[in-house]
Parts: sequence; structure tokens; C-alpha cells
Amino acid sequence: MCGIVGFIGMPVKGTLITDSLKKLEYRGYDSWGVAFLSKGRIESFRAVGSINKIPKKIQEISSNLAIGHTRWATHGRICKNNAHPHLSSGNDITLVHNGIIDNFSELKTRLSGNSFNSDTDSEVILKLIEEKMDSGSDLLHAVSFAVSLLKGSFALLVFSSIEPAKLIAVKNESPLLLGVSDKGIFAASDQIPLRNFTDRFVFLEDGDIALISKNSFECFDFSLNPVERKIIKVESNVTSSGKLKYSHFMLKEIMEQPFVLKDVLVQDKKNFSEISFLIKKSNLVFIANGTSFNACLFGKEFFSRIAGINPRVIEASEFPYELDFLPENSLIFALSQSGETADVLDSVRKARKKGFKIISMVNVFNSSLVRLSDKVIYLNCGEEIGVASTKAFTSQIALLFLLANSFAGKFDSALIELNSVSSLMQQAIDFNLDSVKALSAKIKSFGDVYFIGRNLNYAVALEAALKLKEISYIHAEAFQAGSLKHGPLALISKGIPVIVVAPKDKVFSDTINNAIEAKSRGAFIVGVSNESNEVFDFFIKLPKVNELLFPLVSIIPLQLLAFHTAVFLERNPDRPRNLAKSVTVK
Ligand code: F6R
Repeated sequence: MCGIVGFIGMPVKGTLITDSLKKLEYRGYDSWGVAFLSKGRIESFRAVGSINKIPKKIQEISSNLAIGHTRWATHGRICKNNAHPHLSSGNDITLVHNGIIDNFSELKTRLSGNSFNSDTDSEVILKLIEEKMDSGSDLLHAVSFAVSLLKGSFALLVFSSIEPAKLIAVKNESPLLLGVSDKGIFAASDQIPLRNFTDRFVFLEDGDIALISKNSFECFDFSLNPVERKIIKVESNVTSSGKLKYSHFMLKEIMEQPFVLKDVLVQDKKNFSEISFLIKKSNLVFIANGTSFNACLFGKEFFSRIAGINPRVIEASEFPYELDFLPENSLIFALSQSGETADVLDSVRKARKKGFKIISMVNVFNSSLVRLSDKVIYLNCGEEIGVASTKAFTSQIALLFLLANSFAGKFDSALIELNSVSSLMQQAIDFNLDSVKALSAKIKSFGDVYFIGRNLNYAVALEAALKLKEISYIHAEAFQAGSLKHGPLALISKGIPVIVVAPKDKVFSDTINNAIEAKSRGAFIVGVSNESNEVFDFFIKLPKVNELLFPLVSIIPLQLLAFHTAVFLERNPDRPRNLAKSVTVK
């Protein structure tokens, strides 16, 4: 979703800001824009579409104060006027915003004497600042006045040509951090665009206003009382953030899963036992969205099979409706790759208000979820840039398995077992690399693809269907294999692909029977298994592995299937339409 960057410091080229903005592309966007202070005036540029053709004016500009924005439309359609930065009527104040202003209609009515250039909620913030500055206030006080009226989520960057030595950053329930470098001070939605410049970050808290100059910053609350925010040095992630030899980030992230697992498994045993201790005393509730939600389904199965407890799993956007019905000793376990997903953060804030403890499993260092948690397990799988989550998913499964075992007093043996899965994941790639691509060439012509599995493998089917639909735009749906004859069989017609996730376990023959039922109605059966069967028209061959860890190997060829299908259909798997990597609005 929207990404923002800002800079104040020594004069830099305009392309430094557009290059940094490009590093936020992975969050998803439909338009973009930049504003620079140049020769005492604000120069701005906005466009719909991708950041590719950088106008000459930006390439040539030299500026020491700039802001930029990638917009993922919420209020107002996708058009140049709704793109940020917004400019005041006097062309002397400019602002970018990520988030949603809940009371924007009310504020717009209050500002009815003003003329608006966009349909966005963001422009009302600018108008409030402008009104206050017009009545004699300085920029900092005008921003403080404006944000005190706002309800909702907002990360803002604002500067004015009237006070050219200041950049102002505001954070409330949308991500924003500062990066302190030798060139000057940056602000951004996350660390990724700033990695080339610094490893020193300031993680702003909700309710913070930062007043930034070229070599220092001060933080305040919304009433301008000073608050202390420290600079934290953050070591670079374990894996390279470039695409390396791969055509797409998603492909790189799929292929690196076997060796990333080794990094993921470098965990603090004491942290795991402390978390296990908390779980012992509590009613465990997993919450997450999307792929992380699918990972929670494994958490539930692992805890019930290995640890003998039966946690609940609630989709984070539904959690607030369940909150009042949860037992007092509930322990909320939130999973999120980004640690910035709005529904997860909202649920966690509400759960904290009720006095529940929060454990989280997160990839991004010191993200908002981390700061709301009592205890954290880091995925350590390196930056995940592709919008479709892949390596974070397998890391979550591995660590949930480790945690359930830690609870059962078997941390060390589980660690050994998990480490040995790394080579089996590699085999899952090696066995299927070319054949899955050939399968994608067939799948790409279908409008519907179905995935079936039983218990743990139903969760694999759910995740595989999510991957295929989100990047290829083919309708893909998962069913519990046994439920086919209760309705979904009606969907099967000649040639429809049904992908059957069926390891050789005690329910193998039941699942095969369901595949036979589908085949008798004309389905093309793709078997995903470590055991061949005559019902399979196409076989995705997998190595033998502990049945609880089969998902770690079976999901990989299915991720590749989704990837190649999208590429065959000329859809960019790294940036699927309408989707964002970091879903920072509810
Ligand atoms: C799907 C996908 C999304 C995310 C979801 C939650 O491939 O990536 O469904 O899993 O938006 O994101 P996080 O894990 O960052 O909370």
C-alpha cells in the first residue's frame, strides 16, 4: 500500500528520491509523485502508473529537501490529481500521506470555503495546515493543530518553502521511520529504501511528530511535549535484497527457501521456552491474514498433535467481533511477515486493551507488531519483496513446528529434524523444476483450478490456491477432499484441473478415492505426493518426509506452478494487480 520517502540534508539528485521510491514499489501502487525544494520553490511531479520514465526535470534537479509517495488508491479514483504530494493553494506547503482519515467528510465540511484539487482524504490535512499557517502559525504548530483533529491512521511528511530547513514527519497507526545517514536524514515507510544509505534507524511511535533538520531531529507528542526516540543500529538481513540471477523476486524467494530455512532455525531456545511457559497458562488464539492466516492453520494442527492443546485460529479482520467472547486467560499469537498489517495491528491493540498478552511471529525487524508484543519470534528469512508471500510462509510453518515441540519439551530433536528438511525442500525443487513449468503451460488456459487435501494438506491446498489466484488471476479454490461430493463436484467438467495434495499417510487412500470421483467426472488430476498413483494424470513427485513436515516440501512446487502460470499469462508475479505487500489500511 502507499509508500512514502522523504529527505533533508546535503543537496542530492532528484533521482535519489525516485530510486528510493522505486524500492517501495513492492508494497503495491497505482500512481506516484515527488516534490522538491529547489531554489526556494516547491517543484513537484505526479503520474499514474509505474515509476519508469523519470522526467528530465527530476533527473536534473538538485535539492536538499524532498518527499515522494507511491499511492494505492483508497479515497478517490486513480488519477494524477489524486496522486501525492498535494500542494497548498499558494504552492508553498506540500504533503504526502499513507493511511485513512476516518473523519475526513466532517473535516471537509468544516473546510468548505476552500477549493480542493483532489478527492482524497489526505488533502484535508494539507488544508488544515495551510489554514493555520495563514493565520500566523509556524509549520510545526500548524501540523500539531491539524493532526490533533484527525481520526484514523496516518503517516505524513510535510515541508514548506516558507520554512525551508524543516521536514516534518508524523506517525499514527501507519508505518514510518527515520534513517540517519552521512548525507542527511531520511524518512520512509520501511527500511528497504534506506538500506543503501544507513543502518541507523529511529522507529517512530504512534502519536509522534518528528521535526527534522539536515543533521538532527527532535520528537514530540501531538501536543508538542518532547518525547525521546533513540537511534537503533539494525544489522542487514541475512539474504541479499536484489533479484540476483532471477527474473523476479518471487522466483528468487521460492528458490532460496531450502537454504533460508537454515537461517530461520537459528533461534533462541530460552525465548521458545519462555513463550511455551506463557502458552501453558493460557487459552491460545492465533490471528493473522492471508498467507500468514494459512500458516496459523498449521500452528493449530501442530499444537493439537504435538502439544495436546487445541488453539483457536481467527482471521484478524474478524477478531474484533470475537474479542468479547474470549476467555480471560487468552493469549493472542499474531503472525505477520510485515508486522504492519492493519487488521492484525488493530486486533492486537484491542486485545491489549482487554489485558491479553501478545506473542508475535514477524519477519520485519522492529515493525509495529513487534512493538505491541510482549514476546517475539523473528522469522529471520530475509527481506521478502514479492507481493505473494513464499519464504515467509515456510519459515512460519517451520517455527510453529519448533514451538509446538518446544512446548512438548522436544526443542532440540525438532531442530535437528527441521534442519534435515532443508535438503528435502531442495529435492522438491530439483525433481519438479522443468515439469511444473510444463504443467503451468497447460493450466494457464483454464478459468478454474481446484485444489484438494485432507487436514494439514487442506491447509496446503488453501495456500496453493491463494498463490495461484493472486498472481495469475485464474479462479482457484481449495476444498477439503472429503467435501467434494457435498457440492463442489458439480463444478467439475471435462479437463478441469484438480490438484490433489496427498502424501502417503493414513488418509492417502481416502484422498485418492476423492481424486477418482473427480476424475470420473472428467477432471485432469495432478497428484502432489511422495507416492505415485494411477489416478494421477500428472505427478508432482516429492521426497519422503515426516508427514507433519510434508507441507514444507509440497508447497514449493505449487508456488512454482503459480509463478510460471502468471509469467505465461504475462502477469507480473511480483506486483499483482490491486494487491499490496504491506496492507496498512483496514
Ligand atoms: C499472499 C500474501 C498476503 C499476506 C497478508 C498478510 O501471498 O502475501 O495474503 O499474507 O496480506 O500479510 P502479513 O503476513 O505481512 O501480515
